[in-house]
Amino acid sequence: MNPILIALDVPSAAAALALTDTLRGSVGGYKIGSQLFTAEGPSIVRTLAERGDKIFLDLKFHDIPNTVAGAVESASHLGAWMMNVHASGGQAMMSAAAEAADRAATAGRPRPLMIAVTVLTSMSAEVLASVGVHRSPAEQVVYLALMAKAAGMDGVVASPLETAAIRDACGPDFLIVTPGIRGGSAEQTSGRQDQSRTMAPGDAMRAGASYLVVGRPITGASDPRRAAQDIAAEAVASVTNLN
Ligand code: C5P
Repeated sequence: MNPILIALDVPSAAAALALTDTLRGSVGGYKIGSQLFTAEGPSIVRTLAERGDKIFLDLKFHDIPNTVAGAVESASHLGAWMMNVHASGGQAMMSAAAEAADRAATAGRPRPLMIAVTVLTSMSAEVLASVGVHRSPAEQVVYLALMAKAAGMDGVVASPLETAAIRDACGPDFLIVTPGIRGGSAEQTSGRQDQSRTMAPGDAMRAGASYLVVGRPITGASDPRRAAQDIAAEAVASVTNLN
């Protein structure tokens, strides 16, 4: 599958529908995060899923296991293809999420892919220490990725700079969803903006990413469809060249 997931960081359903109509067929799927979901609610997920789009629901659930399991079931019923929870909610919480995804599948729907958020890339070693975590961010990321795997999660979200270490620790089948894509074919249309730990599409794939989350290098381009095709081609070629 095309590994590019477009971040629909837009304020309205109208803007999201316009963007997906432009990009349909040239990307792998779309990420709906808290901005669009809070503005438009579940109907935007349902609408796009019914059009056949793969939707990564990026709401980062973090609550007691029973509540997270309920949220996962609700998101599955909307037709989300992938969704995420915070690994720092603990192994029991992630297991409850994975089991809820299994139940959704047995109810006649495809099982959604369950992804864990390890350490937010905005958290430095100092910020981690301030909340009582004294491992380095890199060590904490791998520690939580292994916990996510043990809990039955399908993969993690990780910055491009953490991808190789997670791939080594968690093996070839674990999914790694990587934002922070800049440079290479993603450089033509945008600078780094507020991203600091970045990698070009091909390099991120070579480091072991399964999917690349790309926002402004595509959504802010003068020709978003062309930008998506160029970035997808670079990503796919990098993996093909490895084989
Ligand atoms: O526009 P840009 O390509 O920077 O968008 C990246 C997307 O990935 C945004 O939706 C952002 O919130 C998300 N993201 C990120 N870094 C993380 C986790 C998610 O940039 N560590």
